[in-house]
Amino acid sequence: MNALELKNITKSFGFNTILKNVSLEVNLGEFLVLVGPSGCGKSTLLRIISGLESSSTGEVFIGGKNITLVEPQNRDIAMVFQSYALYPHMSVYENMEFSLKIRKLPPVEIRNRIHEIADLLQMTPLLQRKPKDLSGGQRQRVSLGRALARRAPVILFDEPLSNLDAHLRQQMRIEIKKIHQIFKSTIIYVTHDQTEAMTMGDRIAVLNKGQIEQIDSPFNIYHSPKNIFVANFIGTPEMNLLNGEMRNNYFVHKDFDFNISKDISSHDVVLGIRPENITLSENQGIAGTVQFFENLGPNGLLHVHTGNEVIKLFIQGQNIPKINDKVFLNVDQSKLKLFDKKSGSLIQ
Ligand SMILES: Nc1ncnc2c1ncn2[C@@H]1O[C@H](COP(=O)(O)OP(=O)(O)OP(=O)(O)O)[C@@H](O)[C@H]1O
Ligand SMILES: [Mg+2]
Repeated sequence: MNALELKNITKSFGFNTILKNVSLEVNLGEFLVLVGPSGCGKSTLLRIISGLESSSTGEVFIGGKNITLVEPQNRDIAMVFQSYALYPHMSVYENMEFSLKIRKLPPVEIRNRIHEIADLLQMTPLLQRKPKDLSGGQRQRVSLGRALARRAPVILFDEPLSNLDAHLRQQMRIEIKKIHQIFKSTIIYVTHDQTEAMTMGDRIAVLNKGQIEQIDSPFNIYHSPKNIFVANFIGTPEMNLLNGEMRNNYFVHKDFDFNISKDISSHDVVLGIRPENITLSENQGIAGTVQFFENLGPNGLLHVHTGNEVIKLFIQGQNIPKINDKVFLNVDQSKLKLFDKKSGSLIQ
């Protein structure tokens, strides 16, 4: 049985339809990451699951039970809000204690849980402070700790690490995953962060304008995007997307053409190739001029201008071409994707 199921969820505010027929099944103990651009409806969807917002149509099931009309406090779902939502007059300890007391847990159990989570999230020294005496990142950790301490069977996270510095974010990512492995709650985790999505999710759901574009393993989302939107949205830096057309076995672009050993009928296509699947070549391939080099530490991103297009590729090592150098690019044919320009769908 699924831990959580959404059936045809639609949400409109006035004439504005924010969620369009969202259906989703989350397995018991699964860590599902929900990603999508700002304003696509992620928080609204979480609020509908938690019961804080009602859907216009559609149903929410938990453990097979239809809870669409159940009050939020009776849903046994914990939520980490994008806006933290801490009680300002309570200390950190009391904020964490509050919902556990309501659930009538024994005092010893409450104390143990709070100290355990505070320790894991490095917030023990903050337990007696009020939210106003905390930084944004500290408040965010309290909000996270409060939800985790509940050990609810379903936990919803709305961008819980967005206000932490890069180092702390990396640590917290691992702590959340460890806590998940211990308590095995079912989690829906909203983020903008590609790395969080790829490293934390058992599966990733990509939401765009209130519709789910693809739900799949991080590997498939990255390597087999179903359409141009997913290809472009997932991956930093993004996939190179080149407009052209198929003529027999040739991909023909304004600046170059090359043979593709695929038999595709002639029409407008978008060719997608990730920066790690392009290499520099001595004297053959796509001709271009070096425009820019971004040093990223272990490697770097070379921007090559081909006339009308800028193609980006990863390079490593010491011999970095200089700006305005003429170079040739080789595309790994086995890794390229072709999308139908009109529909945006992957051409199999
Ligand atoms: N109560 C409301 N009334 C009218 N429109 C709303 C309301 N709540 C949200 N919206 C609109 O619904 C859309 C989706 O909002 P939502 O907060 O779900 O986006 P999001 O994907 O969480 O974005 P972000 O990544 O920026 O947090 C936005 O255009 C927002 O303006
Ligand atoms: Mg949001």
